[in-house]
Amino acid sequence: MPKILRTAGIVGTGSCLPEKVLTNKELEQKVDTSDEWIRTRTGVRERRLADNDTAASDLAVPAAVQALNDAGLSPEEVELIIVATITPDTIFPSTACLVQDRLGARNAAAFDLSAGCTGFIYALSVASQFISTGAYNNALVIGVDVLSKIVNWEDRNTCVLFGDGAGAAVLKGVPGGKGLLGLHLGADGSGGPLLNMPAGGSRLPASIETVKNKLHTVHMNGPEVFKFAVRIMGEASLRVLEQAGLTKEEVDFLIPHQANTRIIDAATKRLGLSKEKVYVNLERYGNMSSASVPVALDEAYRLGLIKRDYKIVLVAFGAGLTWGAAVLNWDLEPPERS
Ligand code: UT7
Repeated sequence: MPKILRTAGIVGTGSCLPEKVLTNKELEQKVDTSDEWIRTRTGVRERRLADNDTAASDLAVPAAVQALNDAGLSPEEVELIIVATITPDTIFPSTACLVQDRLGARNAAAFDLSAGCTGFIYALSVASQFISTGAYNNALVIGVDVLSKIVNWEDRNTCVLFGDGAGAAVLKGVPGGKGLLGLHLGADGSGGPLLNMPAGGSRLPASIETVKNKLHTVHMNGPEVFKFAVRIMGEASLRVLEQAGLTKEEVDFLIPHQANTRIIDAATKRLGLSKEKVYVNLERYGNMSSASVPVALDEAYRLGLIKRDYKIVLVAFGAGLTWGAAVLNWDLEPPERS
């Protein structure tokens, strides 16, 4: 990491999940799948789905409000908003601008960031640079995705995997030795075709043909993404620890991207961690893409599983292909409210 003037740390978190639950049993009625296959191959039991009227910003705003309250920051005080998402309300304006307006954060700059399921870690990294240089005093970072809106509900290879949600974190300058101790980001654009939504951009604008051919939905080569994920989750975690001058024995808690328990188990093994030190919630939510890591972080924090001075590794992989890891020295007491 380049020389930093000031360290950024997380001073508040929040999350928002749609109420509607879709179980594996219900999915059995929609596509040729089984609860047993989904559980054993992915770990997912159920997921949350946004209703027809709910878009990314509708989940992002309550998550942001909770994070701001937790941090004791008013909307007017927010200086920067970054929304990591691949399912924005609209291609433009950005979802970050919609969130800025709805929060009344009129003094904040706002933009979206797209890095697939690694989005939140990319956004955290970008926000921390602004804080480290002193350009901004704080930043609101949100990871939100509503993948149910772009999943092909006839494709059993993908529709069983995903869920909707939003997670948020507020960053501020913190004393040296606290907060973000290391960051590692990576990308391999040659893997783009392995996980994408082919139409709806300038390459293949929406047409009757693209809609008919279901090109506005998630296309994925699951086994190839799986192999990449198993390798990169461990590698990225070790890289970020090395950068922070920490050993894997010093890791107190791991918050991995919640895509598949088999992928998480591989990363856990690579780091030599016991299962109690790894947060897993994908059985309840599925893969929430950009929201996966911040929702897991918020839950683990509220459950009191993360304590002050814990060294926490966040790690994710996603479309792009992208990957990223961050290591934090956690500086918050568990909140009193649940
Ligand atoms: O955040 C990034 C997003 N992407 C990911 O994280 C995905 C990473 N990949 C994976 O998690 C796994 O590759 C999957 C869970 C997607 C698939 O598991 P897999 O062990 O790689 O299975 P597979 O794709 O090799 O398919 C094995 C079999 C196939 O049947 P045949 O050809 O062996 O007869 C599939 O057709 O399982 C079948 N299958 C299903 N069966 C029941 C695929 N999906 C399903 C399903 N229900 N939902």
